[in-house]
Amino acid sequence: MSRPIILGIVGDSAAGKTTLTRGIAQVLGPENVTLICTDDYHRYDRQQRAEIGITALHPDCNHLDIMQQHLSLLRTGQPILKPVYSHKTGTFEAPHYIKPNKFVIIEGLLGYSTRAARDAYDVKVYLAPPEQLRAKWKVKRDTQKRGYTPEQVLAELEKREPDSEQYIRPQRQWSDIVVSFYPPSEEEDETNGHLNVRLVLRPTIPHPDFTPIVSSSTGNSESAIRLGLDRDMSKPVDVLEVDGHATLEQVNKLEHIMCSDMPYLQSVCDRESNPELGKIAGTTGETLQSYPLALTQLIITYHMLKATQMYQ
Ligand code: G6P
Repeated sequence: MSRPIILGIVGDSAAGKTTLTRGIAQVLGPENVTLICTDDYHRYDRQQRAEIGITALHPDCNHLDIMQQHLSLLRTGQPILKPVYSHKTGTFEAPHYIKPNKFVIIEGLLGYSTRAARDAYDVKVYLAPPEQLRAKWKVKRDTQKRGYTPEQVLAELEKREPDSEQYIRPQRQWSDIVVSFYPPSEEEDETNGHLNVRLVLRPTIPHPDFTPIVSSSTGNSESAIRLGLDRDMSKPVDVLEVDGHATLEQVNKLEHIMCSDMPYLQSVCDRESNPELGKIAGTTGETLQSYPLALTQLIITYHMLKATQMYQ
């Protein structure tokens, strides 16, 4: 039986969820993807939240039961009437009728907070940039796109911290992959170069066998691409790190591992014959994305495609 494949992208406010979601949708082909943001399931509008003194991060501030119902419906290919929260006005708009495409990406703050919701996903990603970087991203986004002043954003971050700690960050434990983009050093931020990425790969889903990169010169501790063993929230995990200055040759080795049994990914990575997708997968002529971001998108896409194979 074929049914939509569901990807979760969960993380705190301004952790990079939308950027990653859009990138993955590009790789899968936007026409094949339905995007859902769980901010639409807020229970109170902006004014009500202020009056009650509750933050959007609190479970009680969201219709998690309805979100859960909708996830289950989408998973079985059924349509939903999704509420709509406008970040522009801070109020709700008319609901949208949504029929799931082949792939559904659900991004949001509390996507893994209940057991039933967690059960709906095929692949669960948690975004965990260093807090300093997240604060920077949040100030940038909320001042440029949501009409706040930097002071207001910083005050809001502080106000939300207890809820972040209690409700958002613990969800990391439920993810199959934890994605952390981080600056190469304290002095260098992402504006002068590309961010590095650290991917925690939990054994909850079968990852591609990256071990060949360990035995080659590409994978040693000095290299721009490293694979190692670690613990995350006390559980053993594999950790794959890709530096922003990785070369195309190094990136190709990693891509080769993922693409070998996936013709579609092969075409994504074939930068010469497929310049448009090549741009998404990294660089062709003009650099659109960093290799760490491109590889992260590719690994997640790999899992979406694997899940498709399992259910068809
Ligand atoms: C944060 C979250 C959003 C959430 C919003 C609500 O910014 O990232 O996902 O919807 O808080 O707050 P608002 O600024 O719309 O009142």
